[in-house]
Amino acid sequence: MKTHEIRERFTQHFVKTGHEAVPSASLILDDPNLLFVNAGMVPFKPYFLGQQNPPFPNGLATSIQKCVRTLDIEEVGITTRHNTFFQMAGNFSFGQYFKEGAIKNAWSLLTGSVEDGGFGLDPERLWVTVYLDDDEAADIWHEQVGVPRERIQRLGMEDNYWSMGIPGPCGPCSEIYYDRGPEYGAEGGPVADDNRYMEIWNLVFMQNERGEGIGKGNFEILGPLPKKNIDTGLGIERVACILQGVDNVYETDLLRPVIDAAEELTGAKYGEGASDQDNIRFRVIADHSRTGMMLILDGVTPGNEGRGYILRRLLRRIIRSARLLGATAPSMERFMNTIMDTMTPSYPEIADNRERILRVAIAEEKAFLKTLESGTKLFDEAVEELKSTSRAATPKILSGEKAFELHDTYGFPIDLTLEMAQEAGLEVDMDGFNEAMGEQRRRAKADNQAKKHGHADLSLYREWVDNNPTVFTGYETLTSDAKIIGLVRDGQKVNEVHEGEQVEVILDQSPLYAEAGGQTADRGRLYAGESLLEVGDVQKIGKKLWVHKATVTAGGIDLGASVTAEVDEKWRHGAVQAHSATHLIHAALRQVLGPTAVQAGSLNRPGYLRFDFNYTEQLSPAQLEEIALITNQAVDAHFAVNTIETSLEQAKQMGAMALFGESYGSQVRVVEMGGPFSIELCGGTHVANTSEIGPVSVLGESSVGSGARRIEAYSGMDAFRYYSKETALVEGISRELKIQSEDLPERIAQLTEKLKAAEKQIDELHKARLMAQTADMIGGAITVNGFTVISVRLPNNVSGGDLRTVATDIKNRLGDEAGVVVLASENEGGKTPFIVGATKAAVARGIKAGDLVKTISGYVDGKGGGKPDMAQGSGANAEGLQAAFNALRDELEKA
Ligand code: SER
Repeated sequence: MKTHEIRERFTQHFVKTGHEAVPSASLILDDPNLLFVNAGMVPFKPYFLGQQNPPFPNGLATSIQKCVRTLDIEEVGITTRHNTFFQMAGNFSFGQYFKEGAIKNAWSLLTGSVEDGGFGLDPERLWVTVYLDDDEAADIWHEQVGVPRERIQRLGMEDNYWSMGIPGPCGPCSEIYYDRGPEYGAEGGPVADDNRYMEIWNLVFMQNERGEGIGKGNFEILGPLPKKNIDTGLGIERVACILQGVDNVYETDLLRPVIDAAEELTGAKYGEGASDQDNIRFRVIADHSRTGMMLILDGVTPGNEGRGYILRRLLRRIIRSARLLGATAPSMERFMNTIMDTMTPSYPEIADNRERILRVAIAEEKAFLKTLESGTKLFDEAVEELKSTSRAATPKILSGEKAFELHDTYGFPIDLTLEMAQEAGLEVDMDGFNEAMGEQRRRAKADNQAKKHGHADLSLYREWVDNNPTVFTGYETLTSDAKIIGLVRDGQKVNEVHEGEQVEVILDQSPLYAEAGGQTADRGRLYAGESLLEVGDVQKIGKKLWVHKATVTAGGIDLGASVTAEVDEKWRHGAVQAHSATHLIHAALRQVLGPTAVQAGSLNRPGYLRFDFNYTEQLSPAQLEEIALITNQAVDAHFAVNTIETSLEQAKQMGAMALFGESYGSQVRVVEMGGPFSIELCGGTHVANTSEIGPVSVLGESSVGSGARRIEAYSGMDAFRYYSKETALVEGISRELKIQSEDLPERIAQLTEKLKAAEKQIDELHKARLMAQTADMIGGAITVNGFTVISVRLPNNVSGGDLRTVATDIKNRLGDEAGVVVLASENEGGKTPFIVGATKAAVARGIKAGDLVKTISGYVDGKGGGKPDMAQGSGANAEGLQAAFNALRDELEKA
């Protein structure tokens, strides 16, 4: 049974019993604790926690959620069942059926006949586990479903109590396993062997809320959830593996074609007969190609942090595995095309994004192949050095520092370094490497925390987030009366704050915009009576709580006090101009570059904006000009700006852009300018009419990492100031050159031409003058031990090339004489080029110019070498030249 059909059957089974089929949310949801969606229940979290009412008619839903888990990345291809991307099919009950309903629903789908829409699994091969003391679940399995007691096993917290690993809903669970047979491992059920008995479905009886704590087994239960719920997760890829009768999840209809493509590209063979190592590499390519493709589809681009880093690591592991299998040419395009083909039936949106996905993946491959080249060079040099410095008998160890440099600067995964080291007969100082990594992590973590929330621990705000989210009034007004519901100083809750202190203020409502969606936070003030607090930053915590970072500039204020909160009007005006201008630029960009130019990030602060988007080519000046023109035309068009609160589905129908990070059922805010011209999901603040934006000056574009580019622009008065500065500059130059500004390009080209010609002429004159001196130089020759010796320090700034010309000329003039010419000069930065020439007769007497250059080098801190008749060098200390000349004569004396 094809994977796509397994999906369909799952959905149909639950739709028939009243569940609403909900599309998969993006892999990227706006949750600071989650890099990627890692379970089917993630988009439903607010319903489980009782924060929102589930919008499904029967309180029942079903979904097949895209999930990414990269914690087990090292396991990929080694075990038979670890995918970094997988599809979790689930049914969800919000306060409706509980254990019995979940168990019976799962059983009937798994064991139902294929003709009736089931999976047709043999009930004799199914085992289940329940949480230690969950007799209720065990009894349902046995008495109502008929699973014999010996195939019901009990496991503890680690295995059979499910939570997201972070605070959120949780509960005991019951897992269903399929016995793949004795060739896969020992008898004895899932507690004995989790390879033979493969987990396929997890039924979570979601009933509690988990607090802070570590991992799966060690956390506090905060209390029961408002209702008892069901969250289940069936691994589509594992069911496919069973139903397709293949050995592992990498050989199903979705991934096997990638393995086949890799066989063709690399010439290596997969399967029996191949080494374990090679087979793992094939599976890594298949698994990572899919995960990489799905991440790019959802808007991730390769980078050095967070999600971008994970994508980069996956793509690099593909490339490396392919090379280790023997690929010599780039292979990414083929892998991506293959996986897009197999995945499109279930994810039709891939079709519209093919070109973009290819572009991003191929750009990363190009970058990594280059990296691989320069990193390999660094590695080889390090190996060379080690070999020449350490004695043969001692083991050669690549320092942790070098390994870290390879990782940090060249993007070498440590296992690549280890493998290359092994091939070169080296060991790697892993302790040193880990230390350097740990140090870097500590720095990054400290950086991040300091950046986001000062030194405060987030748990400090938890109660406010849950009970008193801030009401944002700033869409309608710039001034609000508010109550102080929280004060924080130095990471501690306090009851009052005083003049001169830096504090954090939490209000019940606030007109100040908190930084989000690229728009910087509002500046503003809070005041009551004589007391004044200047707000310099506003950050959102948990999406709901506004934390105002302020300085008490007069008086003091108590918890519970009433204040007036006021936005700095000028600041806000500048910020909305920039933010609205960003929407116009985004729209213009897509008109000019097409829909594959997808937004990757933005920043808007008063007067300035930048906009990052996925695109691998540099924009031409003509494209930039067109983008600027369309943007300013939209300003001039006087478009009214409308905001609409609606459902995500409705927004999609309206054609809204930037849908990443939203989940089904969310209420979203759509900002529309000029009807179809620009429609975006956006929580930011905007002008009421595009004409308020004023001029927008596009400054240019640049690359920001592979596959992404950045446009920068000024808006409003800053755009005016920019233009007026540029104009003044051009006018100044025109005046200086006494021409019209439109003649500038031609005149500058002429001047550059002239300058080049003049420089060339100077060069020639310089050389001619030097040549004119050769007669004098020969006149100043002395005789040492029968050699005619000419040693001259020429004027400063004679190049090495010119030294050679002059030396050759002198040598020629000396004819058959046994002569030695030594010339030197001094250049900028203390560089001292020098040259030694020896005539034929001198060479016949045993003179070697190369040796003489070595002698000079010793006096001028230099190095050099060459042939017996001509050798050249360069030193760092011209002071030593006289002594060098003397030493040379001594040497000739002895020759
Ligand atoms: N949330 C559970 C899991 O991820 C079941 O869906 O396993």
